Amino acid sequence: MSRTSITKSHQKIQELSWEPTFVSPVEKYATDYTFEKAPKKDPLKQVLRSYFPMEEEKDNRVFGAMDGAIRGNMFRQVQERWMEWQKLFLSIIPFPEISAARAMPLAIGAVPNPELHNGLAIQMIDEVRHSTIQMNLKRLYMNHYIDPAGFDISEKAFSNCYAGTIGRQFGEGFITGDAITAANIYLTIVAETAFTNVLFVAMPGEAAANGDFLLPTVFHSVQSDESRHISNGYSIILMALSDERNRELLERDLRYAWWNNHAVVDAAIGTFIEYGTKDRRKDRDSYAEMWRRWIYDDYYRSYLVPLEKYGLAVPHDLVEESWNRIWNKGYVHEVAQFFSTGWPVNFWRIDAMDDNDFEWFEHKYPGWYDKYGKWWERYSELAVKNGHGPITFEGDKADYQYPHRCWSCMVPCLIREDTIVDEVDGQIRTYC
Ligand SMILES: [Fe+2]
Ligand SMILES: [Fe+2]
Repeated sequence: MSRTSITKSHQKIQELSWEPTFVSPVEKYATDYTFEKAPKKDPLKQVLRSYFPMEEEKDNRVFGAMDGAIRGNMFRQVQERWMEWQKLFLSIIPFPEISAARAMPLAIGAVPNPELHNGLAIQMIDEVRHSTIQMNLKRLYMNHYIDPAGFDISEKAFSNCYAGTIGRQFGEGFITGDAITAANIYLTIVAETAFTNVLFVAMPGEAAANGDFLLPTVFHSVQSDESRHISNGYSIILMALSDERNRELLERDLRYAWWNNHAVVDAAIGTFIEYGTKDRRKDRDSYAEMWRRWIYDDYYRSYLVPLEKYGLAVPHDLVEESWNRIWNKGYVHEVAQFFSTGWPVNFWRIDAMDDNDFEWFEHKYPGWYDKYGKWWERYSELAVKNGHGPITFEGDKADYQYPHRCWSCMVPCLIREDTIVDEVDGQIRTYC
């Protein structure tokens, strides 16, 4: 690489940006935010010349690990309980990634800052790469795992399945509505800055504990791009904060983005980690413990709360209620119960919990057995073929009322006492 200074190159690149004089641009992705008074800076000074060699090295490691997994016979040693949940997870995750790529033109069109456009364009390339290496990982699992059924139909299953629709709603949020709401507050400030910690750090750790070292290689390759995306988002939110007219929009969007991320990501990743693992060492952190550290302490207390001094209204009540749902209201356990009820229509298997699991759950979530133990014992009994129907259709034996969907996050209203019912355009709707 030549030694020309990054600062000089970065300045040069901005000269390539221009406003056409011969035509007035059509506003394609509208926003209510205003950035007239905003300072225009990209603290990271991102340029492609340093970006490509770094990404090439990362790709080499990913593809090297894939090769290693095949030669090392990883697929014979991995826990089946874990791999089954990957059929669902890997059906969903490439979609939010490619939606994140598609969100970048929204942000570029809405933010009048050539310095930042460069970083956003680089993020777009990142997100395409993420989607691609995840699809490739899925293909590798399909070709080498002992039971490929489920991996082979995952794209089709994703768009037709009751669980896939939740993921689809989540990913479409990056590209729907106000450009800044979608591409900045919802995608970057909340999904990337807060929730990728459990998605791309906690989950790979659990994969490794279950004998899968390939997924961590792929997802850490994704997560290490996330710092660049977080920086892009931070630059935009600082621009938004410099104008008083954006205050109410920011407050509205943070509330919406926080709740939807919590409802969807904690449902999915919480269930994969707590119910997909065979690792029941007591010193392993539970999902609740990881959440407390990475989302409550590292994001909420160290990132979001300090933004208050710039005039940001932080949704303290929603953050506390999310924790309350995870810790006191059994949110993740309710989701796992809901998923396992749906097994006749699932394209992945859900392993029954055994005594080892019961002991761990009771240790980590005191009172768990009284509330969920019987369900999982029945689930075990009904998993054995002896002429009965699936648990879904064994009314009394199942002792389960199928919940209504939340028409905001698409996850069912699992904390039943909190369900809100309203009439919208003549239709009765339920909300979590
Ligand atoms: Fe990504
Ligand atoms: Fe990202």
